[in-house]
Amino acid sequence: MKLFDVYPLQDITPVKARGCTVTDEAGTDYLDLYGGHAVISIGHTHPHYVGMIHDQLQKIGFYSNSIVNPLQQELADKLGELSGCDEYQLFLCNSGAEANENAIKLASFVTGKKKFIAFGKGFHGRTSAAVALTDNPKIIAPVNETLNAVILPFNDLAAVRKSMAQGDIAGVLVEGIQGIGGINLPETGFLEGLQELCHANRAMLILDEIQSGYGRSGKFFAFQHHNIMPDIITMAKGMGNGFPIGGVLIHPNIRPWHGMLGTTFGGNHLACAAGIAVLDVMKDEKLVENAESVGTFLMKELAAISTEISVRGLGLMIGIEFPTPVKEIRARLLGEFHIFTGFSGTNTIRLLPPLTLGRQEATRFIESFRAIVQQA
Ligand SMILES: Cc1ncc(COP(=O)(O)O)c(C=O)c1O
Repeated sequence: MKLFDVYPLQDITPVKARGCTVTDEAGTDYLDLYGGHAVISIGHTHPHYVGMIHDQLQKIGFYSNSIVNPLQQELADKLGELSGCDEYQLFLCNSGAEANENAIKLASFVTGKKKFIAFGKGFHGRTSAAVALTDNPKIIAPVNETLNAVILPFNDLAAVRKSMAQGDIAGVLVEGIQGIGGINLPETGFLEGLQELCHANRAMLILDEIQSGYGRSGKFFAFQHHNIMPDIITMAKGMGNGFPIGGVLIHPNIRPWHGMLGTTFGGNHLACAAGIAVLDVMKDEKLVENAESVGTFLMKELAAISTEISVRGLGLMIGIEFPTPVKEIRARLLGEFHIFTGFSGTNTIRLLPPLTLGRQEATRFIESFRAIVQQA
């Protein structure tokens, strides 16, 4: 049987990984500054994580959401403590798109309205409601097209105000930091203004923290760099360090009813064990603080390498934009220096390393990058 060929592939076959290092079948080690697309938070195959999943699998791996699963409450308690969002309610699911789909649904249930605002260059996943609010016509199938999606320019509060004046907006979906769009930061005034407009117009403010959350920005959630309290927060990626798990944090004012949301696999025993292990390691190893300090160091050093480049980001979510395409630089980083990086569009390199990245590893990247840029 052939695989459905939707992914352009790098010609590399990883067979093992540890911390920030990925090893291929020929035994070559790569420094992972991509984290499998911002997913690896506590480092590959962390022993506490492997141990917790292994032990849980020996006991019970799965049962449906029709029974009591105390691991869900343990996960919620630990998440509340580490994120500072203890008063929110947690709904567990399996992926980022599913988290956004449920968030959009919740906002529509609560407000009784259908229209949503999202922003240019945003990405929110590929399920029906989420993809309709994603600014990329190439991934919107005819069945996903809807008049309920209003896409406005990022950081343009006046445009949101004008659109909200119609009175029919159920919610605003915005990334804590735009990831796929190129590491674009929302302005504080923009997020605070969105919150004010949502409150004034009976709409829900939904923060998509799927890529920017879980410590990546140097705070638990990127919106915590600003003075807001969203109605709904979505998360996935770093939450399971590779185990598929997503979640929705729901403001205490939003009341659930039985059957309002649901999923077969969400919150299963094994996923909870993975999620709890991630939070344990993040707390014990102070990974949010590490993301802040190593990220600040990286950004400062990178910005000093050339006046041609623009370095943007917070913590370990970093974009390096060139005036020209970065394809060759990325190929040299991978082929000669054995460093994985991500990209955005044609001209931006994206760094999304594990939050365990150390100064020595960061320095290895800076020196490799400098060698390439200064030769060009
Ligand atoms: C900001 C954001 N939202 C949603 C998603 C979708 O997540 P998933 O691929 O887990 O469905 C992504 C994935 O890259 C993302 O970056």
